[in-house]
Amino acid sequence: MAGAAGSPEKTWSSRTAFILAAVGSAVGLGNVWKFPYEVGAGGGGAFVLIYLVFVFAIGLPVMIAELLVGRRGHAAPPIAAETVAAGSQRHKSWAWLGWIGVIGAFFVLSFYSVIAGFSLSYMVETVTGRLGDLTPEASVKHFTDDIGGSFAIVFGWHTLFMVLTVFIVARGIKGGLEQAVTYLMPALFVLLVGMVIYSLSVGEAGKALQFLFQPRLSDLTTDNILQALGQAFFSLSLALGAIMTYGAYVPRDYSLPRSAFIIAAADTAVAILAGLAIFPLVFQYGLEANAGPGLVFITLPLAFAEMPGGVIVGGAFFLLLSIAALTSAISLLEPTVSWLEEKRGIARAKAAVWGGLAIYLVGIGSVMSFNVWSDVTFWRGTVLDNIDFITNNVMMPLGGLGIAVFVAWFMNPEAVRSEVTGISDRLYKAWLNLLGFVCPVALAAIFFSVSGADRLVLRIVDLAGYGVSEDPGERLLHATIVFIVMIMPSLLAARRRHPQLALLAFVNVVAGWQPIGWLFCLVWAHRPDLLTATRRAVGARDDRVQASSDERSGSAG
Ligand code: PHE
Repeated sequence: MAGAAGSPEKTWSSRTAFILAAVGSAVGLGNVWKFPYEVGAGGGGAFVLIYLVFVFAIGLPVMIAELLVGRRGHAAPPIAAETVAAGSQRHKSWAWLGWIGVIGAFFVLSFYSVIAGFSLSYMVETVTGRLGDLTPEASVKHFTDDIGGSFAIVFGWHTLFMVLTVFIVARGIKGGLEQAVTYLMPALFVLLVGMVIYSLSVGEAGKALQFLFQPRLSDLTTDNILQALGQAFFSLSLALGAIMTYGAYVPRDYSLPRSAFIIAAADTAVAILAGLAIFPLVFQYGLEANAGPGLVFITLPLAFAEMPGGVIVGGAFFLLLSIAALTSAISLLEPTVSWLEEKRGIARAKAAVWGGLAIYLVGIGSVMSFNVWSDVTFWRGTVLDNIDFITNNVMMPLGGLGIAVFVAWFMNPEAVRSEVTGISDRLYKAWLNLLGFVCPVALAAIFFSVSGADRLVLRIVDLAGYGVSEDPGERLLHATIVFIVMIMPSLLAARRRHPQLALLAFVNVVAGWQPIGWLFCLVWAHRPDLLTATRRAVGARDDRVQASSDERSGSAG
């Protein structure tokens, strides 16, 4: 089944090609459209600082883990995860790690394409001079009414964008993907650097630099912190199958940590460059830094309208944004296509068309969220808001958590070590510790808080019976404690193949008897023989006992 990915035409032709493709996936609307408006809303420097910490302390370790699972499994995400789990004598249900990716990417692409369509539309409007003399009010109106408000326009650009994406993916790894990124990525860098130079020389460079790089830590709120972590994941393309799928095409002799570092560094550089391109203009023209998602589409055309040569600069800017979006969209379609190809045996071109068509149709819901259905709101808002919420706040942190825990705790340690090459033992240890401890706690915290599960979990376990705090910071802290103190024990027990203990620990959590859960784990960690005896008593199978003691003697990290 994994054979399709194993065929020679399904590996990258060079390290550069792989890096370019992965950078192409990472660099997208997330960097140019989302990062600046989140920095603007998050107060500037403090957000940038914490974002950088998250990218390198949490995003980078998870990226290495995700590439690792992809390469070792050498197949579409669900098959890869299942294969790798089987290789470590783990249950095949670990395939869910891959499913989160395939399904998440499917839904993200459905609205990503709509936003990318806006970018295409603004590119044409700027170049044809239709955005001539804009006032701020007119620009808001233009975005919400003239463009967003017209079903036909949003729908049309969404259609065009999906057609382009399908076209490239249908042509395969070497013919489509690699060729596209080989031209598109360098073009993007050149355009962006040009924009930055222009912007810094005509705009308020000093103010922008101060805003971006002078952190006032008092600006940091719980919300900003969560937002920064979510943004780091989105921007690095993590936990949505994209990196795992690209990892499947990586030859065995490339160093994953080195590649991941280059990808993360390039992605971060582009985000910072986008900030440097946008904020000098924002301050120059007295625009609002915290204008929200409209920052790029509402405020920048104002700047383009006023500046000399705005037609060209503006056109280039939106061209750049569309290119960045296209190379990311390719990686969002690839998980679905590779799964259809490998599991269902559908030819690539056909798989791309059918997969793309399904995503395109779902995307119509997001198209209508701007116009026909703008009043139809439920749960988190419009259709688009709901899809965005579930993918970004539930699936992504959950997928990241799963990948970190799976690789650090559940995979065979020798297998992990053999995949992570090109770094010293000390760095390797540092990576494993970040992945096994820091990442799960941080991701569990974001999952609990951002999904709203913290209220639910805290209500169930209700710390000391004080009720659930209304303060999000306090809730975040409590949810983190809940995870470390109550859920970790059952995960630990599951890792050592003690399903009964895992269940017991979990029951303890829910019943609020955490100390008992911990006691079990402690006893078991120090006297495994005792618990093995317990397990025998409950009728566990001998082969599993054997496997568990094998792993105990082999596992250090
Ligand atoms: N990283 C892309 C961006 O910044 C979006 C993306 C997320 C792509 C997840 C693939 C997977 O726009």
